[in-house]
Amino acid sequence: MQLAERLERLGTETAFTVSQAAADWAARGNRVFPFHLGDMNLPTPANIVDAMHRAVADGKTGYCPAPGIPALREALADDIGRARSMRVDTSNVVVQPGGKPVITKFIQTLMNPSDGVLYPNPGYPIYESQIEYHGGTPLPYGYAETEAGFAIDLDRLRELAPRARLLIYNDLQNPLGCESSADERDEIARLAVEHDLAVLSDEAYFEMRYSGTSTSIASLPGMQERTVILYTFSKKFAMTGWRLGCAVAPVAIAEQIAKLNTNDESCTTHFVQEAGVEALRDPSGSEALLSELERRRDATVAGLAAVPGVRCSRPEATFYVFPNVTEAVQRLGFGSVTEFATAALHETGVSFCTRHHFGTAAPDETEHYVRLAYSGISVDDIGEGLGRLADWVDAA
Ligand SMILES: Cc1ncc(COP(=O)(O)O)c(C=O)c1O
Repeated sequence: MQLAERLERLGTETAFTVSQAAADWAARGNRVFPFHLGDMNLPTPANIVDAMHRAVADGKTGYCPAPGIPALREALADDIGRARSMRVDTSNVVVQPGGKPVITKFIQTLMNPSDGVLYPNPGYPIYESQIEYHGGTPLPYGYAETEAGFAIDLDRLRELAPRARLLIYNDLQNPLGCESSADERDEIARLAVEHDLAVLSDEAYFEMRYSGTSTSIASLPGMQERTVILYTFSKKFAMTGWRLGCAVAPVAIAEQIAKLNTNDESCTTHFVQEAGVEALRDPSGSEALLSELERRRDATVAGLAAVPGVRCSRPEATFYVFPNVTEAVQRLGFGSVTEFATAALHETGVSFCTRHHFGTAAPDETEHYVRLAYSGISVDDIGEGLGRLADWVDAA
């Protein structure tokens, strides 16, 4: 049977291949310290689980409205609007099975074939995959390492913006763990307005922060009417496998996204949506999650600081760090960061992704980076794993 040609353009989340390598290594009787996947080993808060059980018992097991049940849309409009100081109406909210579907539905709703789409690189790999799959023109923009973390290459963005119709922006960024300064965010919004771009604001980590407050680019002047927000329950409530999120969009776009829902999945699971209503009614469980993640962040940053040849900033948001490992790679004599990651797994059990799992590297990139997620590993294991990594590099 002949497969559709467009499948040649479909990418994937290659971090899952790192999970497989780690699982294979563990199956051979080895200890693995899992820093590779942005999943969580923390339980979903009990009030949410209980609400789901009640909803199943109450028979909330059939089809429900394609854009979401009214109670959840109302709760989301209220919560998302309040957290972003924006007016969000129920009609702006379209419930989704997770945050990820918002990426493809944004592209399907607003991009014509060959339209230019700006997106972050390094960045979440599904952006590039979906742009290419739907026949768009990828316009990646990069980041520069700074004292405080990473900053968007605004010169490059300004250069590319005239060729773009869409912009994907992920403040509180995966994999970099960084956040825009107010000036950077303002400049991106200014460019979006100047070039009349439709914007996807991927806010998967909006509430995953340890200090300060997040600002949505959608709340800046001239932005709400051109922006689709990606919202997800996955991280905030440790609900990655439940598949619950939403798009927040201008009504005309929201209606088209709801039509795509009807075509793709009919609706998001009814009893999961009822659990989402409870999550927003009583979000107290997410505070305990955040304080545990903060302890892990501190342990990860401290552990990496003790590894020779590794430089790492201390992100205030997300659950990722993106250390520069150039000197460590050189010290061990590896020709690539991929060899470094494979050897680290085999020599120390520490498993992580590299820069290459987050988009195609530009030819002029000379520094080596890796990404560690600390959402699925305990503080004790972080200490032990990174201690082994430090000893291994130190011995070289
Ligand atoms: C930047 C970013 N956007 C979107 C998603 C998708 O999240 P979800 O599990 O809600 O589909 C992720 C998941 O890791 C992410 O890192």
